[in-house]
Amino acid sequence: MLILSSRTKEEGERSMIVVRQPTTKEELEEYYDLRYRVLREPWGQPRGSEKDEFEDQSIHVMAVDDSTGKVVAVGKLRKRSDEEGQISHMAVAPEYQRRGIGLMITEELTAQARKLGLKRLVVTARNNVIGFYEKAGYRITGEAYKLFGYIPLSWMELDLQEEIETSRH
Ligand SMILES: CC(C)(COP(=O)(O)OP(=O)(O)OC[C@H]1O[C@@H](n2cnc3c(N)ncnc32)[C@H](O)[C@@H]1OP(=O)(O)O)[C@@H](O)C(=O)NCCC(=O)NCCS
Repeated sequence: MLILSSRTKEEGERSMIVVRQPTTKEELEEYYDLRYRVLREPWGQPRGSEKDEFEDQSIHVMAVDDSTGKVVAVGKLRKRSDEEGQISHMAVAPEYQRRGIGLMITEELTAQARKLGLKRLVVTARNNVIGFYEKAGYRITGEAYKLFGYIPLSWMELDLQEEIETSRH
């Protein structure tokens, strides 16, 4: 479990962001709700469109603000083969963005991928968040499809073996 201490901007009070897997039905509902509100609602997509056919086979991770108990960020990992995993549906609540919480989610998903013995992770990134995945160590490998038919996505990849080599030096 990853724990980050931070300060709330409004009152300067100490709050804690805890990254972990959802454990109850209610938490999972809140998890999907945040995913819907950040990744689907602004584009007029219907409820239900935030889920895909792989939810049951995926590892889900969320960040909770300890001071409110609310889910503030989510992301998931799906094993695509013995070597490859895909990270997707990364979403941070607007008021919590750019505070390092998205990176905490990717780090936890990467740790889970390592536990599974995966060699690489891929993601289809909306082009406006390519910079985020680059910060997480991913590189662009090609164009993907267009989300909702018009939002361009790029394939990006993180070589987990290379990362291990690099961190040894
Ligand atoms: C993209 C998203 C998941 C990033 O999470 P976040 O918590 O805001 O990002 P972090 O604070 O962990 O950022 C980590 C680094 O990436 C950078 N970064 C974050 N978002 C970025 C963006 N959109 N473009 C370029 N760089 C970005 C940050 O500046 C930071 O770099 P720094 O350490 O040098 O300051 C989040 O902003 C989000 O949910 N956006 C809307 C939904 C979305 O588009 N999701 C992705 C679908 S593919």
